[in-house]
Amino acid sequence: MEQALVIGASGGIGRAIAGELQGRVVAVTPLSRSADGLDITDEASIERHLGALAGPFDLVFVATGALVIDARPPEKSLRALEGGALAAQFATNAIGPALILKHALRLLPRDRRAVFAALSARVGSIGDNGLGGWHGYRASKAALNQFIHGGAIELARSHRQAIAVCLHPGTVATAFTADYPDHAKVTPEVAAKNLVDVIAALEPAQSGGFFDYSGATIPW
Ligand SMILES: NC(=O)c1ccc[n+]([C@@H]2O[C@H](COP(=O)([O-])OP(=O)(O)OC[C@H]3O[C@@H](n4cnc5c(N)ncnc54)[C@H](OP(=O)(O)O)[C@@H]3O)[C@@H](O)[C@H]2O)c1
Repeated sequence: MEQALVIGASGGIGRAIAGELQGRVVAVTPLSRSADGLDITDEASIERHLGALAGPFDLVFVATGALVIDARPPEKSLRALEGGALAAQFATNAIGPALILKHALRLLPRDRRAVFAALSARVGSIGDNGLGGWHGYRASKAALNQFIHGGAIELARSHRQAIAVCLHPGTVATAFTADYPDHAKVTPEVAAKNLVDVIAALEPAQSGGFFDYSGATIPW
């Protein structure tokens, strides 16, 4: 039976990903802040929680992330930029998943296909940014994309069949989007089915890429 580690399994999308995988007869190890005390902004916490796992995992799915941290909403203008809020965005959305990749390396098999997938966001695309605003969240996801892209190059040297990717889930009805009632959304279950289908079809040549819920490449 395939094994998957879902980090952020308490979140709207993470919980649905775990359920979708279980429905496909994958054994899921869930990890989260609220259920297990994992804080991805604290490397010692990541090291402790991932260090306690034996693996190997055919899939490590990072479903953590935040748009609003400490009640600070996304910036609508440059005047709203605040160093502490920006640092918090980077700690949660970019540095946390990068450190998870660091500590997950030993959990990925070297002798067969394995996938490391992190939830990014289309708004992290620089090429696709025609609106501005949401500076901290956008920049932190762009940084995440660079970490995963660069990490994938290195990963390929030791794990020839491994695939590390950034995924955009679509606009999904979770706590994350609760402040945006007018946006069209899919359910977490639909998003999870789409993302697991994309993951199942990925090939090693696509490692390092940024893909949406349909498998289409998103510009950096
Ligand atoms: N929903 C959307 O429309 C949408 C669109 C584009 C991208 N995304 C991305 O998808 C990801 C998941 O979104 P979602 O909609 O499922 O959001 P969500 O329901 O708010 O879930 C967020 C998850 O992140 C975890 N988390 C946040 N900070 C953490 C920390 N410091 N340490 C450990 N865990 C932490 C939460 O853990 P606890 O609840 O246990 O504290 C929760 O599991 C995010 O990266 C988001 O940027 C979502």
